[in-house]
Amino acid sequence: MKLIDGKKISEKVLDEIKLSVQNRIKNNLKVPHLAAILVGDDGASKTYVNSKIKACKKVGFKSSLFNFDDSISEIDLINQIEKINKNDDIDGFIVQLPLPKHIDQDNILNMISPAKDVDGFHPNNYGRMTLGLESFIPATPAGIIELIERSEIKTEGKKCLVIGRSQIVGRPISILMSQNKSFGNSTVTVAHSRSKDLKKLCLDSDIIISAIGIPEFIKGNMIKKGTSIIDVGITRVEDLSSPKGYRIVGDVDFKSVSNNVEYITPVPGGVGPMTISMLLKNTLKACKISD
Ligand code: GUN
Repeated sequence: MKLIDGKKISEKVLDEIKLSVQNRIKNNLKVPHLAAILVGDDGASKTYVNSKIKACKKVGFKSSLFNFDDSISEIDLINQIEKINKNDDIDGFIVQLPLPKHIDQDNILNMISPAKDVDGFHPNNYGRMTLGLESFIPATPAGIIELIERSEIKTEGKKCLVIGRSQIVGRPISILMSQNKSFGNSTVTVAHSRSKDLKKLCLDSDIIISAIGIPEFIKGNMIKKGTSIIDVGITRVEDLSSPKGYRIVGDVDFKSVSNNVEYITPVPGGVGPMTISMLLKNTLKACKISD
């Protein structure tokens, strides 16, 4: 079993970004600037946004946080987005999700300028990604690609099972794994809540990318020897022996599969740490495009 250390790989990516920023400063080029819009005061969203801002400081980016009350109307939020779209100092920005129920998420994401859409959620970027054109790839699938490439896991001709079809993870990674490029070229199956006989599908796969959020669902008897697993699941389960009263587990029963897997990402410390470094990588890219 080879463990894919997402924390270490993420640090490496952040170091590379930091070096690029230092080189830009030496060459009198603009320092990348990421902005985040946070609506309301949901604890988890605040934590995520703060981690993104902290990572910006670490690599030398400028960052801005726009925090709006959860009573903000959709039209006022759109006006704020348009202001940021026009602000030449900001290279990329994100609207932290989820949004309050009275705001239509699709209307909001559609208002973000595609050139600043470093989350890659705008239909322009999503469509371009699907067509294999240059685009901003959403952070989680981009992080999965980075982990697979840096671990030198071969994808060409492999049978890859993606479990989950969400817009943020399952759908885009299934497209990217099947693309006709040096990364991809796999035979991809997308399984979801209506799929039959998941065990059979798992046993038939060389690579499994799981993003269903069912804790420790994939067991050792569901995979063949030599399978590589990317575990995107992050679920809190009660654990009274932990000081926090819970622990974070993935979709994979790590102990149970450990004798059969070739490569595996741990949870926590696998895909999770990659998402912020990929967001910053997209921001650097947006900044370079606007040079
Ligand atoms: N909420 C949970 N994940 C994400 C993400 O990747 N981007 C944004 N904007 N919001 C999120």
